Amino acid sequence: MKKIGVIGAGAMGSGIAQVAASNGHTVVLSDNSSEQLERSKNALAKVMNRLVEKGSIEANKSQSIQEAISYSTTLTAFADCDLIIEAIVERLDIKQEVFKQLESIVSRNCILATNTSSLSVASIAAACKFSERVIGIHFFNPAPLMPLVEIIPAIQTNTTVVGEVRSLIDGWKKVTVVAKDTPGFIVNRVARPFYGEALRIYEEGVADFATIDRAMRELGGFRMGPFELMDFIGNDVNYAVTVSVFEAFYYDPRYKPSLTQRRHSEAGWFGRKNGRGYYPYGEGTAMPEGQNNPELQQLILDRILVMLINEAADALFLNIATKEDIDLSMTKGVNYPKGLLKWADEIGIDLVITRIDSLYDLYREDRYRCSPLLRKMQQTNTRFYSN
Ligand code: NAI
Repeated sequence: MKKIGVIGAGAMGSGIAQVAASNGHTVVLSDNSSEQLERSKNALAKVMNRLVEKGSIEANKSQSIQEAISYSTTLTAFADCDLIIEAIVERLDIKQEVFKQLESIVSRNCILATNTSSLSVASIAAACKFSERVIGIHFFNPAPLMPLVEIIPAIQTNTTVVGEVRSLIDGWKKVTVVAKDTPGFIVNRVARPFYGEALRIYEEGVADFATIDRAMRELGGFRMGPFELMDFIGNDVNYAVTVSVFEAFYYDPRYKPSLTQRRHSEAGWFGRKNGRGYYPYGEGTAMPEGQNNPELQQLILDRILVMLINEAADALFLNIATKEDIDLSMTKGVNYPKGLLKWADEIGIDLVITRIDSLYDLYREDRYRCSPLLRKMQQTNTRFYSN
């Protein structure tokens, strides 16, 4: 595949265009706003200059990457592309309209991909006459830095398209995983309890934000605690993802959003980007340290971790992805210190089940139901990995 088209020159599309151009492709980047294209071009020049200054790339390489990208406000520029990756606004009606238009411009063999986070790939593919050429290619933000890419075939997608896309993106030195076309794919589904259970622990008054973050960082080995991470992502964005996953799962209580996060979002306390989230970020404000109470820290880690493991096990139970891809997704997509299924083996399936069941016994909420896969494994005395 030589020529790649990217539609939408926002945060994601600009990053994806950079990745494709850095890997030797000719790229057309399109947006309906010419100002946005200008901004994207200038931002790329800045990034490239920084990389040259740091000695990460040669000046002529920076030049050739920038020259490889052409900018256009019309979709006709995509006529001779082999693959198009769409990264426009997250609205089904608009995406469907764009895919329909694209099909009237590109060749019969051109693959059409969407970077959607929350819409089903099947629903976007349904707008196309040749829906078997449509696939999800889900990058993480920022695309040039995050190694993980989820590849999501829709039920309509031809299997040869999956193979072609996976080997292409592997060649871009990314880590690819294949996920079923289900809400949140892998990462945005399996990661939900990291936020949701932390919020629940806070709401029950078990510990404050800083103590929960400290436990997950210091004892769990996570790079950031849940509240720091939500502040980093933005409470508005993180809350919207939670709501969309919850709705898409027909209101399964396991994914129920939190009122605490909703209030923070409503108050405009989005996080780092506007100076106030769970923590204040003004100049000179120090982050609170949180309690150093080993027993409490252990309780917090055990509770969040077991919910994460349960979610990962259930994703495997429902064939969302292979066990290897589920573990890779969490270490490469959100920097978890270990794959969750590997972690489950280390803790022991029996103990994982005991902990989930004790939460269920206490709350009697479906939120704490144990994945049938874990129970089956207990009955047959098996592990996720043979060793
Ligand atoms: P953004 O808002 O930064 O950029 C979207 C761009 O699309 C804007 O420049 C806008 O002018 C353009 N656009 C909108 N409608 C268009 C149309 N009809 N034709 C041409 N251009 C159009 O959005 P962002 O964050 O880059 O997200 C884009 C897509 O990527 C969405 O589907 C989002 O769900 C997905 N995504 C976002 C991630 C993130 O962390 N921001 C992560 C992974 C996926």
